[in-house]
Amino acid sequence: MPETEYDPTHVEGGRAPAVDVVDLVKTYEYHHKEPGLRGSLSNLFRRRTLERRAVDGISFRIEPGEVVGFLGPNGAGKTTTLKVLCGLLYPTSGSVSVLGRVPSRREPGYLRRIALVMGQKSMLWWDIPAMETLLLHREMYRIPERDFRSTVDELSGMLGVDDLLRVQVRKLSLGERMKMELLAALLHRPDVLFLDEPTIGLDVVSQQRVREFLRDLNRERGTTILLTSHYMADIEQLCPRVLVIDRGRIGYDGSLASLVVKTAPHKLLTAVFTEPVPEADLVAAAGGAALRPCDDPLKVEVSVPREQVADVAARLLRVGRVADVGIEEPPVEEVIRAVFGAAADERTLS
Ligand SMILES: Nc1ncnc2c1ncn2[C@@H]1O[C@H](COP(=O)(O)OP(=O)(O)O)[C@@H](O)[C@H]1O
Ligand SMILES: [Mg+2]
Repeated sequence: MPETEYDPTHVEGGRAPAVDVVDLVKTYEYHHKEPGLRGSLSNLFRRRTLERRAVDGISFRIEPGEVVGFLGPNGAGKTTTLKVLCGLLYPTSGSVSVLGRVPSRREPGYLRRIALVMGQKSMLWWDIPAMETLLLHREMYRIPERDFRSTVDELSGMLGVDDLLRVQVRKLSLGERMKMELLAALLHRPDVLFLDEPTIGLDVVSQQRVREFLRDLNRERGTTILLTSHYMADIEQLCPRVLVIDRGRIGYDGSLASLVVKTAPHKLLTAVFTEPVPEADLVAAAGGAALRPCDDPLKVEVSVPREQVADVAARLLRVGRVADVGIEEPPVEEVIRAVFGAAADERTLS
């Protein structure tokens, strides 16, 4: 089925969304091969073509300036979706528009306005300094000299890599290289940035730096960002909105905060006492809520239904002298794991 033509007149209010995906399906075709020579021979005569539906009818819209997190276990269809959005893959059916254009046409005017950064795929040349690749990009995108200088200065300053531009890329650490990847990808000042696991494998300090950089980029330039990550910290700190995808379908589209409230009916209540409190008193104070095992004999952790938090906290304050109390949402990792359910436990969460 051919890709449906995008019709911008359908946009309400006349303002085009940055990304508009309607009923997108992407199926991969691949050939089954029996193992061994016999398999190779029989393959010559009758190749069995198999299909895998990586994306199974998804729809979503992203407005200009949004930062959206794309979450899902391995094999959920995230990378496939990003590749379709960049025009690297044709949709099997459905319609996709980015900045009002059909990505698969790969028009130069379109490619100048988007960028894709993949954490596990480098676009830099390893044997030369990053600056050489940047100069190449300057030619490719026909960036005027003055803009080139100011963008390189600005971005390398934000990323803290000014002094590394002339170092051979293979000599850089993973974190330094990723910052260079971002610099190279953003040299032409795209309006929409697609990021696939941009912080994977980075040390914590580099991860934080990359996050802050992306946040500043969004605030200062209004860059629209769609990112996948298996680090919940990336999502928590950057993405007010998340799309949860599993087996090629979107299971949730909304704020991370309401996802947590919706799927985690409990909060985590902790209390630290100044002296040990008898177990029986704690059990009574918890009032049926689950006490979690704790290494610290002075500390208790109780998983409490949201509506009982105030009552349980009040009772805990009465069973002993309390030095500190805390009421927290459960860790986002736990929440996301619950959303994906048992199926996600078999595949790793990403
Ligand atoms: N080139 C390909 N040929 C066949 N199947 C593929 C290909 N690329 C990805 N897939 C399959 O499509 C599904 C979605 O993959 P992907 O989009 O990479 O998921 P994610 O990025 O969420 O981990 C998986 O089942 C994967 O095995
Ligand atoms: Mg992927």
